[in-house]
Amino acid sequence: MGSTMDDAWSEYWAAGYSHSCPTTFSTTYYGKSTRRFWRSLITDVSSEDCWLELCCGGGGLIRLLAETSDDISMPRVIGVDLAEVRAPLGRALSHLPATKRSRIQVLEKVNATRMPIEAGSVSVIASQYGFEYVDATGIRRECERVLSPRATLALVLHKERSRLHLVAKAELELIDQALAEGGLLDCCIRAIPFAAASRANAAVGVDAARVRAEYNRAVRMIVGEWLDGPAGECADQLLRSCGNLIAGATPGNVQAAAAQILRIRHAVTRQRERLAALDEAALGVDGIENIEGWLRHIGFSDTFISPLSEDGYEVGWTLISRRNDD
Ligand SMILES: C[S@@+](CC[C@H](N)C(=O)[O-])C[C@H]1O[C@@H](n2cnc3c(N)ncnc32)[C@H](O)[C@@H]1O
Repeated sequence: MGSTMDDAWSEYWAAGYSHSCPTTFSTTYYGKSTRRFWRSLITDVSSEDCWLELCCGGGGLIRLLAETSDDISMPRVIGVDLAEVRAPLGRALSHLPATKRSRIQVLEKVNATRMPIEAGSVSVIASQYGFEYVDATGIRRECERVLSPRATLALVLHKERSRLHLVAKAELELIDQALAEGGLLDCCIRAIPFAAASRANAAVGVDAARVRAEYNRAVRMIVGEWLDGPAGECADQLLRSCGNLIAGATPGNVQAAAAQILRIRHAVTRQRERLAALDEAALGVDGIENIEGWLRHIGFSDTFISPLSEDGYEVGWTLISRRNDD
């Protein structure tokens, strides 16, 4: 993950999200099946365990772990992420009792391919929509180094053609269209001064009709092509943001509105980077079999893989595997 990607995730978690797919699941993607998967693992761990979460992001899974474990069985927890996550994670966990919080260590700006963690000290590795984002050779080597002989590895992974993957692909296309020259954001920034002048009943000049028509055409394209599809929520957000700026434009706030469009453009560009990474990370059957083969090679004998569904939609793979080399 390059440096702009780290920034994209750092900015994202700083905005207070608890998970990484806001336009697919508006509150949380811990639906019943995902919770069931993690809970069954959590009931197996004890205070003797060291639970390492790779790519922990805003801490949704650490929170689930801490809330599900009782005081006595809560393992030692290490969360690792390449982005800046300590502050948002601190907020997400602030309601926990100090005894539990003291068991959690967050390593931010740390690459999962090189972690400051003692060799052989980790008995559980967990990762949710994270492991598959990282360079496979690097993360596998590092897992082999830190895992103890008796260990469990549990993953929720992006799956090719899952709901999350299809939404990401659609949003990528929508965003490319909105960001293009002559796209929605471009048209909106040009239309704002005319909308402001028109609102103040000032002379709007000869270009006004053309600029307005271009803006309206960009809006119609987004409505027609995207609003009813998998990228509908993202399309709706873009249309609302632009619509509010046009509707609220006055001669006194034209500059502020233009600055707001630049902020939206920045946020959408970051979103594009995260979506492109998801698209690249999503695993087909070959990809998941490759992970299974690696685990077999390093002594994990019982690997169970399943597609994961929530609300009738496929949302990924689950994989759980154990090694018992005492
Ligand atoms: C899709 S988010 C998932 C976050 C969290 N696990 C969740 O379920 O909400 C992917 C996370 O992986 C992190 N990440 C990507 N590459 C990484 C790497 N090489 N080392 C550590 N973290 C990485 C990103 O910073 C981001 O927080």
